[in-house]
Amino acid sequence: MNPAQPAEGEPYGRTVVAADEDHEMILMRWRAGATCAPHDHGDASGVIHLLEGVFTERVYARDGDRLAIVRTREVVAPAIVEVGAEHIHDMRCDRAGASLHVYRPRIHGMRVYDLARREVLVVSDDCGAWIPSDPALVLAREPGFGP
Ligand SMILES: [Fe+2]
Repeated sequence: MNPAQPAEGEPYGRTVVAADEDHEMILMRWRAGATCAPHDHGDASGVIHLLEGVFTERVYARDGDRLAIVRTREVVAPAIVEVGAEHIHDMRCDRAGASLHVYRPRIHGMRVYDLARREVLVVSDDCGAWIPSDPALVLAREPGFGP
């Protein structure tokens, strides 16, 4: 397999290794210094295997119309990050890195938080955790969240 490299303006390349309705496994190839947007994982729970790189994870909680950072930590590969269905986070990769994500069930309706525009975007299943430049990947917009 030849993993996808990050596209221009996106934090990581995304290669779906296996997927059905019960689960999905995605390999991510990170750009050095890239940060994804704060996001949840739909109704899925997951295990993120950090294969390579040094990551900073920020975990958020909804606080009225704000997203508040409740925890920041550095995670050095090899390591595992677990995410529950309520988990909202972003990740920065300090150097080029790679991670393998296993979610159950498959992620549907992931919310990506656009803090600059104070919007929550529900994105399509093939969109990663970033603000998509293609508006067709935005399934719905919910107003009212900001930094
Ligand atoms: Fe995530």
